[in-house]
Amino acid sequence: MEHGHPAPVRELDGNVIVISRRSFFGALLGVGGVAMSALLAIPVLRYVLYPLYSNSTLSKWSKVGLVDSLPTAGSPPVKKEITFRKLDGWRETVTTESVYVERKADGTIRVLSAICPHLGCTVQWRASKGEFLCPCHGSVFNEEGKHISGPARRGMDPLPTKQDQGDLLVHFEFFREDVPNREIVS
Ligand code: FES
Repeated sequence: MEHGHPAPVRELDGNVIVISRRSFFGALLGVGGVAMSALLAIPVLRYVLYPLYSNSTLSKWSKVGLVDSLPTAGSPPVKKEITFRKLDGWRETVTTESVYVERKADGTIRVLSAICPHLGCTVQWRASKGEFLCPCHGSVFNEEGKHISGPARRGMDPLPTKQDQGDLLVHFEFFREDVPNREIVS
């Protein structure tokens, strides 16, 4: 027989069930343990899932070249290769992508991604026509990257740029393909 306060009692369908104090506190501890485990699991889950929801482009800015060595205003766009670090799941890779660099009439610099906004082929500059052409399905863009014809649903994607100690830097971004509005995917 137990002393002190009576043990918790629960009534079910007219039957009286006596729950011993030990099993009552045991159950309470069990619930507390589960809640504590759930709380502890949150940071672990955040760590494990981090690559799935994080921005996968690790190094934000890539060097394109010296600003002074870039084309003068009125010259055709020049193709440049840039490299940056990327996170694919848990794997870190160094990726190379092509961009087109052009100096506008007001002296500012425009950088366009060479990835076709239709289905991702590499767009080529056609000097004879003064326009970009995608070899895969024939989308055509003008010198500013605006869509002229073909299946692409928007113009070429412009990329953010900045200058640092005489260098032009570009922040490469990947955009969703085959949609009319620009959506950054990484
Ligand atoms: S991938 Fe460029 S037109 Fe289809």
